[in-house]
Amino acid sequence: MKKHTILVIGAGGQLGSELTQGLWALYGKENVIASDVRQAEGILTQGNFEILNALDQPKLVDFIKKNGVTQIYHLAAVLSATGEKNPLFAWQLNMDSLIYVLEAAVDYKLDKVYWPSSIAAFGPTTPKNNTPQDTVMDPSTIYGISKQAGERWCEWYYQKKGVDVRSLRYPGLIGYKTKPGGGTTDYAVDIFIKALTDKKFECFLSENTYLPMMYMDDAVKATLDLMEAPAEKVKVRSSYNISAMSFSPAEIARAIQKHIPDFTISYQPDFRQAIADSWPKSIDDSRARQDWAWQHQFDLEKMTADILKHLPAYL
Ligand code: SER
Repeated sequence: MKKHTILVIGAGGQLGSELTQGLWALYGKENVIASDVRQAEGILTQGNFEILNALDQPKLVDFIKKNGVTQIYHLAAVLSATGEKNPLFAWQLNMDSLIYVLEAAVDYKLDKVYWPSSIAAFGPTTPKNNTPQDTVMDPSTIYGISKQAGERWCEWYYQKKGVDVRSLRYPGLIGYKTKPGGGTTDYAVDIFIKALTDKKFECFLSENTYLPMMYMDDAVKATLDLMEAPAEKVKVRSSYNISAMSFSPAEIARAIQKHIPDFTISYQPDFRQAIADSWPKSIDDSRARQDWAWQHQFDLEKMTADILKHLPAYL
């Protein structure tokens, strides 16, 4: 049987830590190496871990070679709100590291590469409702520009170099196991923490700002479903639209109030409002549903109940 060695880059982030656990379950802990620029914390200390800076190309290449890596999940990135504050670094990290990984995939004949894109790859001229797979994309944040360019690089490496690279355009991802990480959609993570600790939350987006969102369990499932699908079923080689739910700050607040009736929300929009306003409100993910049978499991009610049940243990 073929031996798999899977490297997760950026494993310390919101998605990385949970995806690493999903990979442990699928491939066995001994076959997964989590890496991040910072020392492992929490659950990641229980498996193989390496400190790795995705911008240190010689070390990255050496590590891939020495460990016989066969698959890479490349998750390291600066997110939308943080990227606007440090655009040149966001561009450098988000782009250079992707190209290093894709080059390594060619040189060391990796079986597969995973790289996340985002709804941020869309922009103000994109149709807002039920945004199609193929449509106008004029992203207006550096993060979004890096995601759109990254999609083009992925498709190019697939077409021209035969790299089996796969990607999803994630909506806002909501989990409770790690702290929010500088994204515009992260209000929907923070709101649960504040609901439990302060019973009140000041939101940096206005009350009727609809955004596509997904619970972390579904994000891990979507990623592993895509990566485990036979190559011929993966027909989109830029990045798949993927979706589960859409809601506004007022709606998530109401969902929380069903469990915590005295929870209150107030609104103080800042620069992140313009970012949110440039993104779709809902996503058409029918290609993912057709091509590799994507199905989500969590809606707003189910996610809210699950987070409020488990989050107290993490506070
Ligand atoms: N969640 C990301 C952000 O808000 C979007 O991909 O930056």
